[in-house]
Amino acid sequence: MPARDPKDRLIVALDVATLDEAAALLDRLQGVVGTYKIGSQLFTACGPAVVELVRKRGCSVFLDLKFHDIPATVAGAVREALRLGVFMLNVHASGGSPMLKAAAEAAREAAREFNVPKALCLAVTVLTSLDRALLQRELNVPLSVEGHVLHLAQLAKTAGLDGSVCSPQEIKTVRNALGRGWVIVTPGVRPAGSGVDDQARVATPEAAIQAGADYLVVGRPIAAAPDPKAAASAILEAIARA
Ligand code: C5P
Repeated sequence: MPARDPKDRLIVALDVATLDEAAALLDRLQGVVGTYKIGSQLFTACGPAVVELVRKRGCSVFLDLKFHDIPATVAGAVREALRLGVFMLNVHASGGSPMLKAAAEAAREAAREFNVPKALCLAVTVLTSLDRALLQRELNVPLSVEGHVLHLAQLAKTAGLDGSVCSPQEIKTVRNALGRGWVIVTPGVRPAGSGVDDQARVATPEAAIQAGADYLVVGRPIAAAPDPKAAASAILEAIARA
């Protein structure tokens, strides 16, 4: 069941390069933020130590490593992520159903083996850096971006995954097609009046929640704010209002 408490619905992106910078951001957000996203840069630099750092402070981890490999390799990676005690992880839906099924099954088995909650397994569908022209001309996909997003999300659901990462533009379509039990995680969130950075498609926290997102991933609007704790609190209030 997706989280309902605003604090459980905000995921802050730990987009920093070192353990010290990660610890500094955790310090600044202590008590306000409960979940952090660790991506490939920080994990490649620090490894499992950064997952441990977050978990030792009583917070949850979304391990955003977007696994995409043969089924046995992805299953092994998912198993290791569960061993680290992550709350959420993701794999590329374009790995196909044998890979997706292997990921879902590995998460269930590892949760039993390590006696930890089963991490939510999310599908990455179409990277937001791809547009229709790239999809069609380079990747030979004859669908619109939205059509392909939906196709891959449906494939992931059939294979037993729990949800998908959606840009603000895709939330409604995916929610309507896949129903309320499908977990939707949305980056590209910008509070009203703040800059968009390099995000092409953004939504306010209120709009993303109202469109049907379960979790919001927010990076720079919090990390780069003069007072990160105040920025996070304002987003939590917006989530609660929505
Ligand atoms: O700083 P900002 O709020 O834009 O950070 C959003 C986070 O979500 C970053 O870690 C970014 O890599 C990630 N992300 C994204 N768009 C996607 C998928 C992930 O911005 N489509």
